[in-house]
Amino acid sequence: MANSDGTCAAVAHVYRGTFVHSTQQTPLEILEDALLGVDAQGKIAFLAEGKDLEKLAQLFGFSPSAVDQLKQHEFFMPGMVDTHIHAAQYSYCGTALDMPLLQWLDTYTFPVESRFKDLKFAKNVYTHVVKRTLRNGTTTACYFATIHTDASLLLGKIANEFGQRALVGKVCMDRNDAVEHYKEHFDESHEETCRFIKELLNKKYPLVKPVVTPRFAPSCTEALLSRLGAIAKNNNLHIQSHISENIEEVQLVKALFPESKSYTDVYHKNNLLTDKTVMAHGCHLTDEELDLFRETGASVSHCPNSNFSLCSGILNVSNVLKHKVKLGLGTDVAGGYSASMLDAVRRALDASKVLNIQNPKNKALTFEEVFRLATLGGSQALSLDNQTGNFEVGKDFDALRVNVAAPDGPIDLIQNEGPKALLEKFLNLGDDRNIVEVFVAGKKVVPLPTAE
Ligand code: GUN
Ligand code: FE
Repeated sequence: MANSDGTCAAVAHVYRGTFVHSTQQTPLEILEDALLGVDAQGKIAFLAEGKDLEKLAQLFGFSPSAVDQLKQHEFFMPGMVDTHIHAAQYSYCGTALDMPLLQWLDTYTFPVESRFKDLKFAKNVYTHVVKRTLRNGTTTACYFATIHTDASLLLGKIANEFGQRALVGKVCMDRNDAVEHYKEHFDESHEETCRFIKELLNKKYPLVKPVVTPRFAPSCTEALLSRLGAIAKNNNLHIQSHISENIEEVQLVKALFPESKSYTDVYHKNNLLTDKTVMAHGCHLTDEELDLFRETGASVSHCPNSNFSLCSGILNVSNVLKHKVKLGLGTDVAGGYSASMLDAVRRALDASKVLNIQNPKNKALTFEEVFRLATLGGSQALSLDNQTGNFEVGKDFDALRVNVAAPDGPIDLIQNEGPKALLEKFLNLGDDRNIVEVFVAGKKVVPLPTAE
């Protein structure tokens, strides 16, 4: 915003160096020797060429000597968006991957999730998952918690304290025969969802929002699905759930909801498909169902590690994109064994290559396309792309400062590489040692506070 004398509001920080990000037009835009200014609210004030330093310094009232110059082998990329992660399941992440979905839920997941009545246990797990994901470059996470309202509120508090942008969902389920007590009565689910939303919104955390979370159709009566659809509609809230993850589950939904045309129709009929809805997996959706996603603006969270680990299926990402359905990547901890979005990037590439091996007509995704899915695509899938996802002026500065040649890091740079190869190496070989700083809404959140 220009002042009356033609200058602009002063910026708080200015960075100079290589910036890589995605736009609607191109999956990878590389800006070398660029200047990016962040204002006092953490928003991107300008993104310009380095040669314009003097002009920008006058216009935005900063001293050229205060510019933070990136080192050789460093670049900035947008923070990554994990569109689907179960914070509560982080406690057993990396184990229990020997069963298909429905048995896996009954055997491992529900018993563990039922422990989150204990707020001490919840605090320990939730603190670990927020710290781990932030360190690995997840600046925005769309979390499932458990059915417990107070523990879910605690997850929101912890995300806020560490400065992560988050959608937090108290899980709703009024059907479950596997684990005693790990389900709610219909009225309870409704009342506790309202309490969760009200209490979380009352906290006024700037970056944490509630998301209406029916676990998935088989865990909910139609009455509950319908009530949750109404709550989301009346309060203009985000919605998340699971859909068409494995074949047995699709058949179960057919048996439980015989009057519905399809799995997608079950959610649609109950007002759960909106442009603020993200549905995990969708491996077995039909083209007709994908059309319904596009018409309603609902998005798909692609969770390839989970799909491989639980032998659920392989999502054809290109087909989803061909239907103009929004798509982001998710870790789906703990069905997916890694909490790192870099792993989601690699597994997404693997999945598309498996489809290509099966049928060469399936063109494999490029690393640039998957980079876009992990950043801008995720922000679109969560309908947060007016705030995050790339370095467009006016968005919040959610960014990773990456040093590809971090000392004692996982990458050996043998020859001089250009920025495109540096990004590709980081995506394929990098880890948290390469992510030297993380910013959310302009605030440096990694390195983590040392007291923690
Ligand atoms: N479907 C319903 N609940 C879950 C869950 O916790 N994980 C996965 N992967 N799928 C689900
Ligand atoms: Fe999931």
